[in-house]
Amino acid sequence: MQQIWLSLLSALSLRLVLPGGAEEGLEFPNFDGKDRVLDISERNYKKALKRYDLLCLFYHEPMPANKGLQKRFQMTELVLELTAQVLENKDIAFGMVDSQKDAKVAKKLGLEEVGSLYVFKDDRVIEFDGELSADTLVEFLLDVLEDPVEIINSAMELRAFERMEEDIRLIGYFKGEDSYYKAFQEASERFQPYIKFFATFDKSVAKHLSLKMNAVNFYEPFMEEPAVLPGRPLSEMDIVEFVTQHRRATLRKLRAENMFETWEDDMDGIHIVAFAEEEDPDGYEFLEILKDVARDNTNNPELSIVWIDPDDFPLLTTYWEKTFKLDLFRPQIGVVNVTDADSVWLDMSDDEDLPTAEELEDWIEDVLSGRVNTEDDDEFADDHDNDHLVPEDEEEGDQDPDEEDDE
Ligand SMILES: *[C@@H]1O[C@H](CO)[C@@H](O)[C@H](O)[C@H]1NC(C)=O
Repeated sequence: MQQIWLSLLSALSLRLVLPGGAEEGLEFPNFDGKDRVLDISERNYKKALKRYDLLCLFYHEPMPANKGLQKRFQMTELVLELTAQVLENKDIAFGMVDSQKDAKVAKKLGLEEVGSLYVFKDDRVIEFDGELSADTLVEFLLDVLEDPVEIINSAMELRAFERMEEDIRLIGYFKGEDSYYKAFQEASERFQPYIKFFATFDKSVAKHLSLKMNAVNFYEPFMEEPAVLPGRPLSEMDIVEFVTQHRRATLRKLRAENMFETWEDDMDGIHIVAFAEEEDPDGYEFLEILKDVARDNTNNPELSIVWIDPDDFPLLTTYWEKTFKLDLFRPQIGVVNVTDADSVWLDMSDDEDLPTAEELEDWIEDVLSGRVNTEDDDEFADDHDNDHLVPEDEEEGDQDPDEEDDE
């Protein structure tokens, strides 16, 4: 009997996956039950390090006794198994390192943060600081497998390069592979895959970018003009230092592949966060205003705005709406305290008008000076000093009963 039910059930779920039944070409991978993730120990870790292009290790606490937590643990393991299965024909090994049982191995490999994923490539370790889902991890590992520098040879590749406005990018012009390009390449390895490195050996590409021989340009996300790295030719250290100093962009997009790294890089305990759906007309327009503000303030080291497109994080949307008491169908900008997720948001309830760039800049100035902060309303629930954009005549009645409802 159970057999029948099982086969009925699997027929049903097949139906869900493949409506119509017969078509092929859209088959999502299902875990096939074969164990591919290694149990790393003193005996096998050296061999695994040597043998594969990449070794991807999950450093975890010992298996918990609690049933619910065990399930969570198994789900993580399943993400790794599925990733290993999907990438089976790549030269990547996966393993689990137990923080107690394998403490010695962890120490030798330099694993520090329990719950983190470390990727070993050649003699480098790259920490994965993104969402632990098979989609994100597969994309990340494919990026890490590639050469850290992409060579641009044609006008078409150049156009693609110019369209990548969300990424931090560097591009250098060199004589050929056997030149100062080597230092550039060495530097790129330290930032792969988070910062994109490009090079060209082509005179007309270089000319289009106004690049002199052995010069390197640095493109901050959403900026129109690149910065030119000082000095020529550049050593590996020159490049590494410049990138390290400039990698926190004035406007940075939150991405699944490094979301935790971005969030941990707060500004004195807070983030200025903007929610905007790029596909939505209001969201798009708000984003354009935000980019203008970022371009005007690109030299202010105090300012970094984290842009979150809710479309990229469907699993987090309801959590954010609840935590920040927001409607994420509309663009929003606010200040979030990363210690307790307390937040204040700019009042943009007026349907017609988004704030202008000037109004947004005034508000940001208030945030940076501390006039707008997450703490004031904790004690004075009636404090309306911050409602800049509410016209005078509307200020009396409490517009937004939800807003003060903090306790
Ligand atoms: C963030 O919240 C914590 C805990 O409530 C508080 O101690 C801290 O001062 C806040 N930080 C800022 C910058 O408001």
